[in-house]
Amino acid sequence: MLVMTSIKAPSIVILTGAGISAESGIQTFRASDGLWHNHRIEEVATPEGFAQNPSLVHEFYNARRKQLHDPAIQPNAAHLALARLERNYPGKVLLVTQNVDNLHERAGSKQLIHMHGELNKIHCQQTGQVYNWDRDLSTTSTCQCCHQAGNLRPHIVWFGEMPLQMEEIYRALMACGLFISIGTSGQVYPAAGFVQIAQQAGARTVELNLDPTSNSAMFDESLNGTASQLVPSYVDQLLS
Ligand code: APR
Repeated sequence: MLVMTSIKAPSIVILTGAGISAESGIQTFRASDGLWHNHRIEEVATPEGFAQNPSLVHEFYNARRKQLHDPAIQPNAAHLALARLERNYPGKVLLVTQNVDNLHERAGSKQLIHMHGELNKIHCQQTGQVYNWDRDLSTTSTCQCCHQAGNLRPHIVWFGEMPLQMEEIYRALMACGLFISIGTSGQVYPAAGFVQIAQQAGARTVELNLDPTSNSAMFDESLNGTASQLVPSYVDQLLS
């Protein structure tokens, strides 16, 4: 009798950061020309900043949201390669992004968690109701659920707030056989700690980033280069 055996493909968790979208024309946060060099985090990326000056915060995220409609902003080879991996890999692939742009979904990724929220969504501070939103938001925008102006805010996880879908992310990390971190400086927790969780779970860990990061030594393998070059060739290896 012939007994069919199959070697199960290890599941993969991929974490992406601003570096993967840099070549699509979206600014990173911590580069010398990055967003946090021209804007104060406390003013535009904290609940306290929003309470103090909501118009300034709306202006900041309206500009970022508007940029997503620019025809020049398109998914690059790295986004496309990750979508190809998900389509063709025989095991599970979960993509966890810190990015609030929509380039992964536009590239075709489906198993995707936006742990820091999304520019194209807003929510009501009163009810927590989340809405799709692709235009400007202001302090006079009225909410469909509470019918008041001033309660709507960008659906962005600000400093001091809990990232989204963390239980699902930790479950996947604890069950994965390969963890890949792409284009993130590893300065912001909890995402910066995912490598350790994956490692404790016995996963192989790989970092693909333009420069070495403060986390590089923690990875089994750390490759430096642009995401558009490194990611497609790494995906080719995984699929071969
Ligand atoms: N290819 C690969 N990596 C790149 C590229 C590129 N073309 N360009 C830049 N990088 C790398 C940089 O070397 C840097 O290490 O991407 C990283 C970007 O780091 P950050 O600007 O700190 O962005 P990120 O790690 O995503 O920030 C995490 O911080 O401000 C918060 O909520 C915000 O989600 C964000 C979080």
